[in-house]
Amino acid sequence: MNNIAGNLILIGLMGAGKTTLGKQLANKLKRIFYDSDQVICERTGVSIPTIFELEGEAGFRTRETAVISELTQQKDVVIATGGGAILQIENRLNLQQNGHVIYLHAQPEVLLNRIRHDKNRPLLQVSDPLAKLQELYSLRDPIYRATAHTVLDVNSPYSFHSLNRLIRLIR
Ligand code: S3P
Repeated sequence: MNNIAGNLILIGLMGAGKTTLGKQLANKLKRIFYDSDQVICERTGVSIPTIFELEGEAGFRTRETAVISELTQQKDVVIATGGGAILQIENRLNLQQNGHVIYLHAQPEVLLNRIRHDKNRPLLQVSDPLAKLQELYSLRDPIYRATAHTVLDVNSPYSFHSLNRLIRLIR
């Protein structure tokens, strides 16, 4: 297992399982795990929806870029990024140059089923969250693919099976 060198970075849409799988991966490889959203919340002392409310998406993205630039300077850690981190070119370059980037890919319908009742995603607090996820998928799927070194399909429910598939892919 120790032949997997460098940072391991998870990207993908909301609900793809970046945090869940990232924690499992870190645990298995005995590495430190960071979640960029969680770091932002710890530092500001407020939730992601509150940051969006007070500073707008632009304010959140500025904080996210600063945190990503800091986390990617770590060595041999596992990082779960927020779904929109790849929107900034600066982040894309930083992620690609400072780790092995893994895109967790799933269809919008599957993602929505997983996060339907979660109020912690301000971008999905709209009348038609499926339409919103479909829009985000169309816009971002090509960017995730262009940024990632590895793509892992996570349309099936997560399990240790996904973790083992992931480890086989990046080994
Ligand atoms: C966002 C995804 C969220 C969070 C914020 C914006 C996005 O992270 O960063 O609500 O733009 O897709 P998760 O992907 O961890 O839910």
